[in-house]
Amino acid sequence: MIAVLLPLPSGERAGVRGRPERRAKGRHTLKLLLLLISLLTTPLLATPLLATPLLATELPRIATDHGRHALLVDGKPFLILGAQVNNSSNWPAVLDQVWPAIDQLHANTVQVPIAWEQIEPKEGQFDFAFLDTLVNQAREHRVRLILLWFATWKNNGPSYAPSWVKLDEHRFPRVLNREGRRLNSLSPLAEATLEADRKAFVQLMTHLRKIDGEQHTVIMIQVENESGTYGTDRDHSPMADQAFAGQVPEALLHAAGKSAGSWSQVFGNDAAEFFHAWHVAHFIGQVAAAGKAVYPLPMYANAALRDPFNPGPPGAYESGGPTDNVLHVWKAAAPALDVLAPDIYRPDYAHYAAYLERYARKDNPLFVAETGNDKVYARYVYAALGAGAIGWSPFGMDFTGYSNYPLGARKLDDETIGTFAANYGVLAPMAGELAAAAYAGKLWGASEPDDTHEQTLDLGDWQVHLGYGQLQFGNEPPKGNPDRSGGALIAQLAPNEYLLVARDVRVNFQPARGRKLDFLLDRVEEGHYDHGRWIFRRLWNGDQTDWGLNVIGEPRVLRVRLATY
Ligand code: DGJ
Repeated sequence: MIAVLLPLPSGERAGVRGRPERRAKGRHTLKLLLLLISLLTTPLLATPLLATPLLATELPRIATDHGRHALLVDGKPFLILGAQVNNSSNWPAVLDQVWPAIDQLHANTVQVPIAWEQIEPKEGQFDFAFLDTLVNQAREHRVRLILLWFATWKNNGPSYAPSWVKLDEHRFPRVLNREGRRLNSLSPLAEATLEADRKAFVQLMTHLRKIDGEQHTVIMIQVENESGTYGTDRDHSPMADQAFAGQVPEALLHAAGKSAGSWSQVFGNDAAEFFHAWHVAHFIGQVAAAGKAVYPLPMYANAALRDPFNPGPPGAYESGGPTDNVLHVWKAAAPALDVLAPDIYRPDYAHYAAYLERYARKDNPLFVAETGNDKVYARYVYAALGAGAIGWSPFGMDFTGYSNYPLGARKLDDETIGTFAANYGVLAPMAGELAAAAYAGKLWGASEPDDTHEQTLDLGDWQVHLGYGQLQFGNEPPKGNPDRSGGALIAQLAPNEYLLVARDVRVNFQPARGRKLDFLLDRVEEGHYDHGRWIFRRLWNGDQTDWGLNVIGEPRVLRVRLATY
């Protein structure tokens, strides 16, 4: 690129021949061209690391258009059909119990912790042996990785910080509650903690860039894990009290549409929680920004969710973490984070749907970073992708024998993993196409509700009626599936042409409300995708279409063409 920027001495050398005025015109065009090239390349060259040949291929990044989002991997929309391993499965000796589960599941992305205690057991001495092994084995298994930086916060506490951090209370102080009692959560206001965490994270990203800067096996990084503090609304240490008496930062005033004042003046009853959220987010945002300065992968923070309908006071849930009520605070405090992601462990439909809705925002790509691995959760992949998610990932997907029941399954047996695997099995070979459809606003999805057994999806020209637990023949009303296993995903391929992935549901296309027309199913093909190529199996017709498209049992993929007559 630098060679292209060298000035060209004359039109002759540049191959412009002919009359003087044509040569002058040629030189003018060339100058413009060079100016354009230099404008296009300057920002890249300004970041020295990016100008080196290591990053010749495009880095994974989040793209946003018309309020919709895509995770681009190697320049193309990528859908994370994820799986997260158990917390202590981040050791080479355990990976043998990880891969069989991942292979069986047909996941395309695996989330694995990288612990601060593991990479910097002694201050300043780094060990990336596990990361090297993990990346190599992931490549052998042809999956991508998301690394989970377990450091200052892992579910509120510093359990994954090295001993030299978690045992040095003086240098790395903990949060105090209102009564002055110490809680086992590090204070987000402590500069020394930020500096130490940031340094270690920068080393991690530097090493990662060295081993993966070209292949991009690692596509995203989670910075900390379920940050925030249980048992208090904010840090009440003298250092925190002093900051709390100060002014609300300008960026937050702007985001909240407020004018200047102290935290209590500006935010009243929410002041303590917003203050804590600002400081936790600011801390994590600084760590992320420093990591991105050496290797700018997409980065996100995950949330231990509060109950959206009946949240209770901050501290009863993890105060300061990216819960639904402080997403604007996090966005203002941590612009280096691309995504704020919900960890959804409420299996009932009302809660699940509310979480999807609250985290799918124009300023926030939806990514279900964790969800329960019990069978009842499997159906929610359809609603999540229909809500435009860049990915979805059940937790605890390995064969180490641990179960986080009642959050997840009692046991990760064949039937449980098979329920998830059946969905991923059909979705994975067309994941890129689905991600592209979502980015273009041409993807809809739904999961079976608990208390009603019918839903309608509005596709613009057409509506789709979904009936769960309906006989395949006749018009008996739907009664619901016994284990609420139903779901559907619909992508528009062309006008009047749709791709349908469904499970345990009857699907009926109808003209949109107000469109009066005679229509029919012109052609319904069953098949599957193989590396983006459609493989035809058979046509559906007669009993298989007269009462709607009944997709019962295993998920099926159909291409549906509608026509009027
Ligand atoms: C959510 C956390 O983010 C996970 O690391 C794990 O602790 C689960 N909760 C519980 O198994």
